Amino acid sequence: MQNPYLPIPVRIDKATIETEDRNLKTFKFVYVNPEDEAKFQYKAGQFGELSVTGKGEIPIGIASSPTEKGYVMFTVNKVGLVSTALHNMKEGDIMGIRGPLGNWYPWERMEGKNIVIIGGGFAFTTLRSSIVMLLDPENRKKFGDIHVVYGARSPGMLLYRDELAEWEARDDINMHITVDGTDDPDWKYNVGFVPSITEEKAPKGDDDTFAIVCGPPIMIKFTQPVLDKLGYKHDHIIMSLENRMKCGIGMCGRCNIGKEFVCKDGPVFTLEELNSIPKEY
Ligand SMILES: Cc1cc2nc3c(=O)[nH]c(=O)nc-3n(C[C@H](O)[C@H](O)[C@H](O)COP(=O)(O)OP(=O)(O)OC[C@H]3O[C@@H](n4cnc5c(N)ncnc54)[C@H](O)[C@@H]3O)c2cc1C
Ligand code: FES
Repeated sequence: MQNPYLPIPVRIDKATIETEDRNLKTFKFVYVNPEDEAKFQYKAGQFGELSVTGKGEIPIGIASSPTEKGYVMFTVNKVGLVSTALHNMKEGDIMGIRGPLGNWYPWERMEGKNIVIIGGGFAFTTLRSSIVMLLDPENRKKFGDIHVVYGARSPGMLLYRDELAEWEARDDINMHITVDGTDDPDWKYNVGFVPSITEEKAPKGDDDTFAIVCGPPIMIKFTQPVLDKLGYKHDHIIMSLENRMKCGIGMCGRCNIGKEFVCKDGPVFTLEELNSIPKEY
C-alpha cells in the first residue's frame, strides 16, 4: 500500500503572478516521474497538500481540471511561512504534492441539472477547475444551464483574467463578473458585491438547479440569505470549507467540526449538512 504521507515529486513548470498586489501566484507542476500522474487522479473540488522541504505542507485547492492532462495547477495566496517559501521558489525547482485529498463537488448528483457557481476572492481556484471541467465538450452536454457569479475587490484582483474573457465570449456559459468598485472607465462588467449580483442575475432555485458557493466567510454569510430568497433548498446549496488542517487524511484531528473531519468527510458539504454540525467554520 502506498504511504499516504509520502509526497509525489513535481517540478515547477511555470509560475504566473495573477493579481495586481502580486500576492497570488498560479503554479503549474509537472510530474518528475510521469507515471505518478496516474496516482494523482482527481475530481474538481478536491485539494492537495503542497510540501516545501524544510518549511512544511499546506492544503491548497486544485485549480486545474481533471480534463487538463500532464500537469496539475494550484493558485496560492502568500500569507505565511509555507506559502511565502513557495512564492520564492523558481521555475525548474522540485517540490512535493500529496493527494488528491478530500471529497469533491457532487458531479454525479448534479448531472442533467443547472449549476450556479458563486465565488469570491482567491477561493475561485476549485471553481476554475469546475468550470474548465464542465466546458469540456464531453461534459458540457451532461449538464443544463451554467451561471457563474465571480467577484473580487477590483479588476486587478480577479484571477485567471484571460480565461474569464474567453468564457464571457461563449454562449454555453453565463458569466456575471463583478468587482466591489473601480475607477477604470473601460470596465465593462458588473460593479457590486457578489450577494447583490447573485440576487440580480442567478436563476430561481428549483429541484433542477444547484448552487456551488466558495468564498470568504463574509461573502458566504450574505449570499446564503439571497439563495434562500431565490428559493434554493439547503440540500441544493454546496459549499467548500477551508478549516485549518495538518495531515489532510483524517488522522491528526486538527480539522474536525463535531464528528466530521473537514479534510476527509469534506471539504465539500451541502448547506443542509452544515446546518446539523456546530458552526465552527
Ligand atoms: C481545503 C483547503 C483548500 C485551500 N485552498 C487554498 C487555495 O486554493 N489557495 C490558497 O491560497 N489558500 C488555500 N487554502 C488556505 C491555505 O491552506 C492557507 O492559507 C495556508 O495553509 C497558509 O499556510 P502558511 O504556512 O503560508 O501560513 P501560516 O504561517 O500557517 O499562517 C499565516 C497566516 O495565515 C492564517 N492561516 C493559516 N492557515 C489558514 C487557513 N486554512 N485558513 C485561513 N487562514 C489561515 C494564519 O492564521 C496566519 O494569519 C486552503 C485551505 C484548505 C483547508
Ligand atoms: S487535517 Fe488531520 S484530521 Fe483533518
